Amino acid sequence: MSHPSREPIAVIGTGYVGLVSAAGFAELGNDVWCIDIDAGKIERLKRGEIPIYEPDLAELVAKHQGRLHFSTDVADALEHARLLFVAVGTPPTYSGDADLSAVHAVVAAMPPSDRHALVMKSTVPVGTGAAIKRTFREQGKEGFRYVSCPEFLKEGSAIGDFLQPDRVVVGDDGDWAGDAVVDLYRPLLTPANGGEGPGELVRTDIPSAEMVKLAANAFLATKISFINEIANVSEVTGANVTEVARGIGLDDRIGPKFLQPGIGFGGSCFPKDVSALKQLAGNSGYHFQLLNAVIEVNELQKRRVIGKLQKHLGSLVGKRVALLGLAFKPNTDDMREASSLVLSARLQADGAQVRAYDPVAEDEARRLMKGIEFADGAIDAVRGADAVVLVTEWEEFKQLDFDEVAGAMAGRVVIDGRNALEPAAVKAAGLIYEGIGRA
Ligand SMILES: NC(=O)c1ccc[n+]([C@@H]2O[C@H](COP(=O)([O-])OP(=O)(O)OC[C@H]3O[C@@H](n4cnc5c(N)ncnc54)[C@H](O)[C@@H]3O)[C@@H](O)[C@H]2O)c1
Repeated sequence: MSHPSREPIAVIGTGYVGLVSAAGFAELGNDVWCIDIDAGKIERLKRGEIPIYEPDLAELVAKHQGRLHFSTDVADALEHARLLFVAVGTPPTYSGDADLSAVHAVVAAMPPSDRHALVMKSTVPVGTGAAIKRTFREQGKEGFRYVSCPEFLKEGSAIGDFLQPDRVVVGDDGDWAGDAVVDLYRPLLTPANGGEGPGELVRTDIPSAEMVKLAANAFLATKISFINEIANVSEVTGANVTEVARGIGLDDRIGPKFLQPGIGFGGSCFPKDVSALKQLAGNSGYHFQLLNAVIEVNELQKRRVIGKLQKHLGSLVGKRVALLGLAFKPNTDDMREASSLVLSARLQADGAQVRAYDPVAEDEARRLMKGIEFADGAIDAVRGADAVVLVTEWEEFKQLDFDEVAGAMAGRVVIDGRNALEPAAVKAAGLIYEGIGRA
């Protein structure tokens, strides 16, 4: 998939999205100037170290080290590239709005130019593009073009998602910059769009492109909260949500994905994007009732494990609880808004002693979680535990030998927070199995 004559581009912000995008474009044949304000991160990247855990990313970066150029100086990007992809963080503020300070810092660093365009990959509220164009005009930089190009990659399968996209969304003003972004993605687009990949092209105006991203995440979050509520009702009425999810998911209007009940969604995107869309609606005078419920259901879902533990253990004071998995989902070390954070805090508040193990997220977890012990492996984590909670469905936990688990535990309770275990295998080891919405 190499196209040697492709134009150099820049990526500003080399985190999960920026680094994956840079490596992905390098795979397509582009030279990519990767800019970040974090000098430590840039130094590590120059040495070939990858600051995050993402499958296949290290290999792809190593493969294209000749095409990937790392710098803290945005002047390098401006000198070598006309398309500057922005992939800086847009975390939530206390009010639930997106914090756009990093985006504004990038905008402020742009000089007047008729040759450059900002291509927004960061997830931003609808209206951000219009506000940035207004700022450019006010600062005499009206020649600077602007394109919205939201990113849909998923951590854990980010490289594949980038190189095999379902769709590529380009929101622009119909100028050279939008055309150039479409050309850049051309190899990943469908043959009907001149490419050789699976990506449908959605070329639209800037506000619609911005809304596509927020609406996509809000819809997926809604699907999760929906199946979690079905699970909760199933639990009290005797249905098995696994059967129910299969039964409804076979309807192609519904589809089987995102119908896995659990202890709530987390991560760097869903919670903040749902909240940002709710706030955006509210700030614009519209009360988005459905999203309020989606958020509330998710918050309560993270706490349901506590009730299940109390049912079996009574008071949690002094009880030893092992958490298997801490990352917000498998195949990532991302701990942002992970359900494990709420769960461990609740457990400690109720007097429990928490011991945890995650295959890759321990460093990040140590930074964020205080007062818990970290184990060297799953069996080490469950040793002496009164109860075990599966929090993140890493493959290695699905392969556990439950006779060994039972032998190591002091108690017998296993709460499967992701419905990822085989109930029969857990019970055959003499343990008590409880999932989410499984009768
Ligand atoms: N992580 C995901 O799965 C995902 C998926 C789709 C979209 N997004 C969106 O992409 C954006 C980036 O997310 P992420 O997870 O990659 O964030 P991240 O925190 O991993 O990376 C952001 C990077 O930007 C850098 N940065 C901050 N200010 C800067 C500046 N002024 N100049 C240069 N660099 C700067 C930071 O040092 C950091 O390395 C967010 O808006 C997010 O919502 C994320």
